[in-house]
Amino acid sequence: MRSGLFICPLCSHELLATPDGRCLRCAPGHSFDIARQGYVSLLSGSSRRPTGDTAAMTRSRASFLASGLYSPIADALAALVKDQCGSGPSAPPQTAARPLMADLGGGTGWYSSYLLDRLPEFDGVLLDASVAAAKIAARAHPRLSVATADLWQSIPLPDSSCAVTLVVFAPRNPTEIARVLTPGGVCLVVTPQADHLRELRDTFPMLGIDPHKEQRLTEQFADFDSEPAQAVRRQTTFTADDLVSVMSMGPSAFHTSPEAIAALATGHGPMDVTVSVLIHRFVRALPDPAKNQAA
Ligand SMILES: C[S@@+](CC[C@H](N)C(=O)[O-])C[C@H]1O[C@@H](n2cnc3c(N)ncnc32)[C@H](O)[C@@H]1O
Ligand SMILES: [Zn+2]
Repeated sequence: MRSGLFICPLCSHELLATPDGRCLRCAPGHSFDIARQGYVSLLSGSSRRPTGDTAAMTRSRASFLASGLYSPIADALAALVKDQCGSGPSAPPQTAARPLMADLGGGTGWYSSYLLDRLPEFDGVLLDASVAAAKIAARAHPRLSVATADLWQSIPLPDSSCAVTLVVFAPRNPTEIARVLTPGGVCLVVTPQADHLRELRDTFPMLGIDPHKEQRLTEQFADFDSEPAQAVRRQTTFTADDLVSVMSMGPSAFHTSPEAIAALATGHGPMDVTVSVLIHRFVRALPDPAKNQAA
């Protein structure tokens, strides 16, 4: 785990490892356990803490992503980070450390790991409410540090510490994202388009896609410089196992038992399925030099 990476979710002081390496602690004395799998639990202390995805959903997500069917999304993200950051982050990092990419609601760490392999100059940090996901993510990549955290609260990362933040099908907190990004840093947000997994939605009882998602997103990120979104759209063949995994990992799984999902999928694979998402790019504005001179 990269040292000095996290701040205390209770008082925002820097968290440092205790001499025995079993906890992170801030100067005022709040202490957070490092699990034997290698992630740090920054959820402790909050009374109404979210639990995130269940262990069963997380297993399904890991097995679905391993199929590579979402690799075009990850390839597009890697290309956008390279494009946006060039040979380094768009604004110099505030420390001499390597630029940081934060995967918010990053689940099992599949996207982080895929991107870190292709972006050797970056370190990664992944935050997720799900303990089951954090256990898997903690082992996903040697340059990825992992913590459980509630993204609806303050993000436990220092101000201006991240060159890139990723939000892939996950909750977003734009005020906190603006705080943790370096000026000129970019937030890449992946959202499903109306036709994403259309053939599955036509066949199985899955939750629909909010038709006002794009509008809400633009409103939420109104304080950022917004660059044109990039569409990723493919027709691809899902096996029967892929169908079960993709239905068992998403929000529909909160409403349907794994047995019922498996029964539904019986006899339906392989199936040609549309994968269709938008990658939105929101850049944290650079300080206006004219304003600084006037001040
Ligand atoms: C649809 S999954 C996406 C996971 C990952 N980005 C991916 O695409 O593989 C949404 C993730 O958000 C996490 N999550 C939900 N509510 C959260 C919260 N309040 N704070 C942090 N993570 C949360 C879930 O545990 C889950 O891992
Ligand atoms: Zn503290």
